[in-house]
Amino acid sequence: MKIDLTINKQKRTFLVEPNEYLLDVLRRYDYHSVRRGCDNTSCGVCTVLLDGKPVPSCSVLAIRCENRDITTVEGIEKEAEKLAHYFGELGADQCGYCNPSMALTVYALKRENKNAGDEDIKSYLVGNLCRCTGYVAQHEAIKRYLGDES
Ligand code: FES
Ligand code: FES
Repeated sequence: MKIDLTINKQKRTFLVEPNEYLLDVLRRYDYHSVRRGCDNTSCGVCTVLLDGKPVPSCSVLAIRCENRDITTVEGIEKEAEKLAHYFGELGADQCGYCNPSMALTVYALKRENKNAGDEDIKSYLVGNLCRCTGYVAQHEAIKRYLGDES
């Protein structure tokens, strides 16, 4: 079946199976920044923004995205670059596999709550796991990014 939606501000039509998850559809259509991890809503690396809110795309049926708005990290390039700058500054990067999902989640947090404190950040990012880092440098980089008004 066909579904029409907007992705990264562009209208597109995707051909999907009724039982297909958004993660599988996006990767089939070459949105490879949307990563596969656990496939069971535990790790967050498949996160995209659906109508501006972070969701694990491995748990969203693609047909539910008809006429909705999806953002992948390619759609927030400037903001992702800003966050990457702070990650680099603080040595918060290792393999980078979790970076697109982190960038999307942190971007959504910034839009919702520019004054997020330590506990807000931790609770907003609770579904985004990173296998490599101890989160400390990432957390500090995220704080700097949230305070960046440029
Ligand atoms: S792959 Fe979706 S939450 Fe892990
Ligand atoms: S830097 Fe490797 S999973 Fe996060």
